[in-house]
Amino acid sequence: MAILKIARMGHPVLRQPAAAVDDVSIPEIARLIGDMIETMVDAGGIGLAAPQVHAPLRLVVFQVPAMRDDAGEGLDLTILANPEIEPLDDEQVSAFEGCLSLPGLTGAVPRHARIRYRGLGADGRPIERIASGLHARVVQHECDHLKGVLYPMRMTDLTSFGFADEIRRAAAQL
Ligand code: NI
Repeated sequence: MAILKIARMGHPVLRQPAAAVDDVSIPEIARLIGDMIETMVDAGGIGLAAPQVHAPLRLVVFQVPAMRDDAGEGLDLTILANPEIEPLDDEQVSAFEGCLSLPGLTGAVPRHARIRYRGLGADGRPIERIASGLHARVVQHECDHLKGVLYPMRMTDLTSFGFADEIRRAAAQL
């Protein structure tokens, strides 16, 4: 396995729609999945989409640490190919996000509060889940990468956009 180079905002690979994964079981895809997990863990992220490592394929990996989960449960590492998302209602919630392709930056992004998502796992079996909270947010963020969408393009209030350490420092002074 290998740690891959992460594309940063401005690189064209992040703006192009990704292609479907035809077969998750082939060795090239298994290797890419392993490398994506290693790269995400090394970078301290909770999600990574294949276009971020210069592979324009509909493939994402993500996890939710229990300590950052509203329900306190967390979510084990999930590999999802060819994902589809369906909002369960009209409610949107705004919360700060970061992205390994925009290092050091953060911003508040409105997302669907509750979603259903489907896709294929690394073993080729279908995955279907209902998600809310950070789980729903990370899935929407990662799947946006497959459409060439980065989180600032979803922001409705750019006054919340900035460097994470400055925003944390300002918040601590309140
Ligand atoms: Ni991202």
